[in-house]
Amino acid sequence: MKNLSVLLTTLSLILSVLIGIVISRSHTGTDSSSPDHKLLIGLSMDTLQEARWQVDRDVFLARAKELGAEVSVASANSDDSTQIRDVNSMISAGVDVIVIIPHDGQAMSEGVRQAHQAGIPVIAYDRSIQDSDLDLYITFDNVKVGEAQAQYLIDHLPSPGKGRIVRIYGAPTDNNAKMFKQGQDNILQPYIDRGDIEVIHEDWAENWEPANAKKITNAAITNNGSDFHGILASNDGTAGGAIQALKEEGLVSKIIVTGQDAEMAACQRIVDGSQIMTIYKPIKALASTAAELAVSMATGQPIIARGEIDNGFKTVPSIFLPITSVDKSNMMQTVIADGFHSFEEVYRNVPEAERPRSN
Ligand code: BGC
Repeated sequence: MKNLSVLLTTLSLILSVLIGIVISRSHTGTDSSSPDHKLLIGLSMDTLQEARWQVDRDVFLARAKELGAEVSVASANSDDSTQIRDVNSMISAGVDVIVIIPHDGQAMSEGVRQAHQAGIPVIAYDRSIQDSDLDLYITFDNVKVGEAQAQYLIDHLPSPGKGRIVRIYGAPTDNNAKMFKQGQDNILQPYIDRGDIEVIHEDWAENWEPANAKKITNAAITNNGSDFHGILASNDGTAGGAIQALKEEGLVSKIIVTGQDAEMAACQRIVDGSQIMTIYKPIKALASTAAELAVSMATGQPIIARGEIDNGFKTVPSIFLPITSVDKSNMMQTVIADGFHSFEEVYRNVPEAERPRSN
């Protein structure tokens, strides 16, 4: 048996050289591999504000339960000291591994330090934790999200490739918001340099609040009037806030607005024409894979991570899941075909005669 496990470890190490990094840090506090030890996972969430996070939580819980683990969940309502307290409680409760969606990717490095001090490994979920000795990071390809948003916007301006735009970035405390911006910059910069695209207004929406996105859009309109063509909003929540401001000015559908998350409300806006696109990120795959990885990590089983990312302290073994741009034309083949949302709900505001066939 021992020989077999040595053989398996050697094989996975060889494999790792070929396809990725193997991580095998496990909880050093208790013997989590003993048969009567009930695995306990801590899931520390920033917020449940966007609809997506409830899906993340529910899928994670269901998959962990299937694997025989219990999960202790806490949501910090966008407050860093609450989130650190949540992590502390999980450490005191003796969890085997902690999965964190940080509110502030920088501030949460303290949570990683404290967990490690107690011998508990940490997985960053969706958002990175900067400057920390993170064990693993699982997320979507966030730079690609930004690239896909910007490319779509550019291609769908009234004069494709040319126009005046407003940019609404996400929360400055969220490393993802920076990565979305980086992806957007990758696409936009050559157009800006040529003078084909002019950014007339840009700002960060603190805490990703739709109300802040609305204020940013109001300010853009107050300073520039309605003479612009697109709003590069970084997610569906901020897109919703921006569209609210456009509505007050009678500009809905005249100015195109991007998004991200394929939230139900955004998908409805897309099929009725007030939002141009969103990014579909298969959250069910992310959450269930994360639950599987948490169990593997807690039990000291090797994990293969094909990607990596520099978090300022080290190169963190990472797993990046793919993303898809969604608009009116492929809503049926993506969000609906995948069972992410139902046809009836997405098209409920569209007159029946104008709906696509549901089969
Ligand atoms: C996530 C987005 C989400 C945003 C606001 C980001 O870190 O990647 O999916 O819309 O946070 O919660």
